[in-house]
Amino acid sequence: MIAELRAIRKTYFKPDGSVLVEAVGRGEIGVDLAIPRGQYLAIMGASGSGKSTLMNILGCLDKPTSGQYLLDGRDCAKMDDEDLSRFRGQKIGFVFQAFNLIPELSVEENVAVPLFYQHIGPAERRRRAIESLELVGLGNRLGHRPRELSGGQQQRVAIARALVTRPVVLMADEPTGNLDSATGEAILSVIQDLHAKGMTIVMVTHDDRISKRCQRVFRLRDGLIESDTLNPGS
Ligand SMILES: Nc1ncnc2c1ncn2[C@@H]1O[C@H](COP(=O)(O)OP(=O)(O)O)[C@@H](O)[C@H]1O
Ligand SMILES: [Mg+2]
Repeated sequence: MIAELRAIRKTYFKPDGSVLVEAVGRGEIGVDLAIPRGQYLAIMGASGSGKSTLMNILGCLDKPTSGQYLLDGRDCAKMDDEDLSRFRGQKIGFVFQAFNLIPELSVEENVAVPLFYQHIGPAERRRRAIESLELVGLGNRLGHRPRELSGGQQQRVAIARALVTRPVVLMADEPTGNLDSATGEAILSVIQDLHAKGMTIVMVTHDDRISKRCQRVFRLRDGLIESDTLNPGS
């Protein structure tokens, strides 16, 4: 298993210490989710069901109230904030609905940004940014600014940026949410290719057409697992 949630609960409290909302888990019951290396998983569920909370825990952006979270063999629930953020930078690549590119930087520089924080030198940054952009079919756009690209191309730059640190998991929250359907298809096929090359992918989506293409669909309801099914033929 590359990632394993065990009896995870996340509760938000009011200032007086009483329970505001049980976002993940209910009472004594937590959520278990074991993700094998290389799996392509969709997380689904109605608005408010706990998808983002679970994704934030999986992505080491947040810690559970209780339970264990093993990522690539380490227990993230026990790390302090600084360790957690360093570990996140090494292990996780994020893609969001918004591309969040820096307009003043070139495509290549945007992709190299996460390496800057890992104190990797300029030559290696450049080499890996180019390698990453080639993976998403943008090796010929290195010097462009984000505004000179289409929405689909900008999302591919964001995917290249997520891959540049060579993460063990790619996490995508509605990655096609801002794109028209043809462009969304192209992005899904980039993600599908990464999966075929062995990348573990966790994607939050509302769209059944998208989740059908994943290997497994993990559905939440009111913070608990509603269903966890493998797609036939995937
Ligand atoms: N920071 C927060 N403080 C208080 N309640 C929160 C916070 N984040 C999420 N929640 C609540 O937790 C529940 C699950 O939210 P969320 O994980 O964002 O669901 P989803 O992504 O499925 O829409 C919701 O009831 C939401 O209002
Ligand atoms: Mg959400």
